Amino acid sequence: MQGIAQIQDDLLKRVGESQDPRAVLKDPEYRGLYSKISSLDPSERGAYGKAVNDLKIVVEAAIEERVSQLEDLTVETIDVTAPWDDNAAQVELLRTEQGTQHPLTKEMEVVIDIFTRMGFAAYESRQIDDDFHMFGSLNFPENHPARDGYDTFRTEEGFIPPAHTSTMQNRILKEGKAKLEAGGQIAGISYGRVFRNEDVDATHEHTFYQCEGVFVSETANLSEMLGTLRSFFEVYYGQKLKIKTQPGYFPFVEPGLEFAIEKPASLGGKPGEWLEMLGCGMIHPNVLRAADIDPTKYRGFAWGGGIERLVMLKYGIEDLRHFESGKLAFLRKFVS
Ligand code: PHE
Repeated sequence: MQGIAQIQDDLLKRVGESQDPRAVLKDPEYRGLYSKISSLDPSERGAYGKAVNDLKIVVEAAIEERVSQLEDLTVETIDVTAPWDDNAAQVELLRTEQGTQHPLTKEMEVVIDIFTRMGFAAYESRQIDDDFHMFGSLNFPENHPARDGYDTFRTEEGFIPPAHTSTMQNRILKEGKAKLEAGGQIAGISYGRVFRNEDVDATHEHTFYQCEGVFVSETANLSEMLGTLRSFFEVYYGQKLKIKTQPGYFPFVEPGLEFAIEKPASLGGKPGEWLEMLGCGMIHPNVLRAADIDPTKYRGFAWGGGIERLVMLKYGIEDLRHFESGKLAFLRKFVS
């Protein structure tokens, strides 16, 4: 049956190269295999017929594969010398067939970009952490009720998927200590995914994103913090904004504040409509001490808030659940 194996190879090669693979079934070489049966000695016909049948199964499978491969290749090459609108339909097709960044990833990059241009170093937060970084280093006493406010998940081993990016404060402070003591400053942001045991609705998710900032120097103060935050929000929304603060409680800052912006008219806001954007304040002396930084010599401020609400305001998104839904109709609105 040597001849048949060779014919099979030959046919498969032709199928692989053909733009019309089904036509190979009309090929004389293929049809000839069948017409040959009648010329064979009856004792050979059984084995021969089986070999031809096996070949048929292999070749037909290859044909179907090639047909679907050709169907996938409907994007034609672009004539780069043609006027742009000649290619517009093709470009559109190419573009929607590519994956794109998730809107939160994209906006997180915008946020990181703004802060790094102000001189902050960026640290990605961890997705699993420990009690010390979640609470202990942040001046939450053991068994303090403020711990309950974070609705933390916990693994059986006692690890914590962080409920805020403040888990990175102690690391940023420790890493910056030498630079601070050499006369410099600590300026870092941490960003990443955080988790809370929340009932999900239009404004609550169990999984969301935060960005946090930490700044320490000999003279850091609240007006520097407010200037930094105002600059950030004005760059992010591309316009002048009204800001205000009100007292807020977080064990790791003193005083602690909630920072709000007036919802801009261009984004559908009415005068006097305030949106709370983040928590902030002067870093508590115990938090500096936990990183071995002398609170009588140095002072700092910190802030932290959710990324989703920033993005929802920017694009008029009404339901937080869209982000984690995986719905393509939603995600495609952010293709650019
Ligand atoms: N970690 C706080 C939260 O998630 C926000 C915050 C960060 C407040 C830094 C003050 C300083 O609620």
